[in-house]
Amino acid sequence: MHLTLRQLQVFEATARLLSFRKAAEALHLSQPAVSMQIKQLEENVGLPLFEKLGKQIYLTEAGREIYHYSRAIGQLLNEADEVIQGLKGAHRGRLTIAVASTANYFVPTLLGTFHARFPGVTVTLDVTNRKALLEHLAENEVDLVVMGQPPEGADVEAGAFMENPLVVIAPPEHPLAQQKDIPLKRLEEEVFLTRERGSGTRSAIERFFAQHGVQLNTGMEVASNEAIKQSVQAGLGLGLLSRDTLEMELALGKLVVLDVEDFPILRHWYVMYRKGKRLSAVAQAFRQFLLDEANDALRIAPALST
Ligand code: PGA
Repeated sequence: MHLTLRQLQVFEATARLLSFRKAAEALHLSQPAVSMQIKQLEENVGLPLFEKLGKQIYLTEAGREIYHYSRAIGQLLNEADEVIQGLKGAHRGRLTIAVASTANYFVPTLLGTFHARFPGVTVTLDVTNRKALLEHLAENEVDLVVMGQPPEGADVEAGAFMENPLVVIAPPEHPLAQQKDIPLKRLEEEVFLTRERGSGTRSAIERFFAQHGVQLNTGMEVASNEAIKQSVQAGLGLGLLSRDTLEMELALGKLVVLDVEDFPILRHWYVMYRKGKRLSAVAQAFRQFLLDEANDALRIAPALST
């Protein structure tokens, strides 16, 4: 196959957007120029890459295969670019990170400190749940991921950098709020709000209660930490969240942490990247910053010291 990078780039955009017109817009080309590149690529490959049903185009089986490789090649080229940027030093370049929604409560503060040190760095931050983070890692779409536990069996390099205790929360007027050493079994009498499937917090909680033989009575499923806190305050049930999400509500006395036996569930935060990935100098610097300085940086960050 004699194909060119340009053909692959045009094909990648067309396959991603499933539209010649949108690909032309995205690449600042005319539509005939896009069609021409695709036609030449199809001739080089020797098979049609798109099929048209009505007005919509779809990828053929060969198209899906080439799409897979064109994305991987595009990502490798970006990586090469970052490595070269890195050789020019960590002071410039791009950092693409994705963090668990729960880590969003402290990662921006850490990025603030890091950015003050390396103001030339452009950061792209995606906030999503654990399941989506694992997909980002598998697709090699990000430099670094921050989440609650390294995935089992996955090809990742993971470094622990901060504690991430999970606690039981209740409104201050709840009958258990004043009690000490609440037995774990007593929680079976309460209703719990739970995070969505795919949440790392949720899977850690499910593992913990299964290990302790305690059957949690789960009520509403709520897809964000914020909404869980609001629902607990509204008396809809108890919650189980990372303590990192609770700074403000605890300070204002809107929620309390219950004193339950075997709690908190002790976890850590991890910074991870795909094994074999060549990290740019910026990504290496941020990773090292998390491993060495995250605890101290959060302690002295203005928003947390008040
Ligand atoms: P979550 O992530 O926001 O998906 O619950 C936290 C974690 O990975 O533990």
